[in-house]
Amino acid sequence: MPSYIELKNASQSFQTNDTQVTLFNNLNLTVHQGESYAITGPSGAGKSSLLTLISGLEQPSTGHGVYVNAGQSKALSELRSDIGFIFQQFHLLPELTALNNVALPLKLRGDKDAIKKATAWLSKVGLNDRINHKPSELSGGEQQRVAIARALVFQPKFIFADEPTGNLDQKCAIEIADILFTCCQENNAALVVVTHSDALANRATHQFSLIDGQFNQQSNQTLEVASC
Ligand SMILES: Nc1ncnc2c1ncn2[C@@H]1O[C@H](COP(=O)(O)OP(=O)(O)OP(=O)(O)O)[C@@H](O)[C@H]1O
Ligand SMILES: [Mg+2]
Repeated sequence: MPSYIELKNASQSFQTNDTQVTLFNNLNLTVHQGESYAITGPSGAGKSSLLTLISGLEQPSTGHGVYVNAGQSKALSELRSDIGFIFQQFHLLPELTALNNVALPLKLRGDKDAIKKATAWLSKVGLNDRINHKPSELSGGEQQRVAIARALVFQPKFIFADEPTGNLDQKCAIEIADILFTCCQENNAALVVVTHSDALANRATHQFSLIDGQFNQQSNQTLEVASC
């Protein structure tokens, strides 16, 4: 039975000194395993913030999320072990080599083939000659590819990617997009990608943009989106 995530009436706002910033109000959204979604929108619209809510990494100011797995409804925080998250700022561990960054999620799961699988993934993202480099010894695009390998190496059910091709040249961006979408298809995973790239967004089955705190859905299949 495919799993899905539901975000219900989610609102997010931040209080900073004397001002309150409201990003969005009462957003509803369902993300189904096996489907791909693209979120676009202007800088500062709240795309990264929304991604952290859908993935259960952060809590909305109001509203809540549920993770429905094997017909059972759980809190979104229980999704943690089933997600691969590619952060906009990568968030690699600075003390670890590329190889150990990618192997870490597998080691934490007790996988004895962690190093072998991590090596294969680094080769897949074109970094087989950089496996022993630490993040500070890698370019932005190389760090981004390490982050992508780390997010996909354990075949998560839900993949969240925040600007995954933002630091890559066109050829590399196409290769990485191929890897993301193939991984989603092969593992029947959900892919939710935040991007400023129309080319990347157009590859997703469901596209919507976040503008002025509202969703503007550009294609409508099984994704249920509403805002009020
Ligand atoms: N923890 C926080 N405290 C206060 N304001 C925040 C916080 N996190 C985000 N914001 C504000 O929320 C707004 C949206 O931020 P977010 O990073 O989600 O935008 P974005 O759509 O991902 O932008 P970009 O395309 O530039 O990455 C920004 O104006 C930001 O300053
Ligand atoms: Mg962002």
